[in-house]
Amino acid sequence: MTLRQIRVVPDEVLRQKARKVPGVDASIQKLIDDMIETMQQACGVGLAAPQVGVSLRVITLQMPEQEPFGIVNPEVVKCSGERMVVEGCLSIPGYQGELKRSEKVTVKGLDRNGAKLRIKATELLAQALEHEIDHLDGVLYIDHLESPDKLKKVEPPDDAAAEGTPDRRPHRKTAAPGPE
Ligand code: CO
Repeated sequence: MTLRQIRVVPDEVLRQKARKVPGVDASIQKLIDDMIETMQQACGVGLAAPQVGVSLRVITLQMPEQEPFGIVNPEVVKCSGERMVVEGCLSIPGYQGELKRSEKVTVKGLDRNGAKLRIKATELLAQALEHEIDHLDGVLYIDHLESPDKLKKVEPPDDAAAEGTPDRRPHRKTAAPGPE
């Protein structure tokens, strides 16, 4: 596996609509493996391929205490409910924002072996899925803020609340608001 560089705003690749993956082959599996390593190294709960400069519809996720996984061509097929969350993004370091996300999300796509998968998610996983799939359409969480004052600067890395966990924080909503 190879660590890939995480692109940050205003890198144009973050605003492009990513292309659908025609088939899961070894290069896509390598991309997933590299993205997982990169996501883990950055302490993120999720990563989308455009964030490593690859404009393809691939995302990876890792919930706390769980195994990481990738989804190829993920699509939200159903979502319901609304809740306010605090999140950040590895591509927008040093900031967190408050926005609305769905309570429940159903996503379909393909796994690392090209098999169909369907996930019904709530809480952090639902939030992360919406966040990562948005990346594939060139959408960033800052686009969902109701007003500019919903975006806050966060402390530098040595503060537990801000650290490289930019993407891993959303779940600790009560203590340290977290980004995905
Ligand atoms: Co992000």
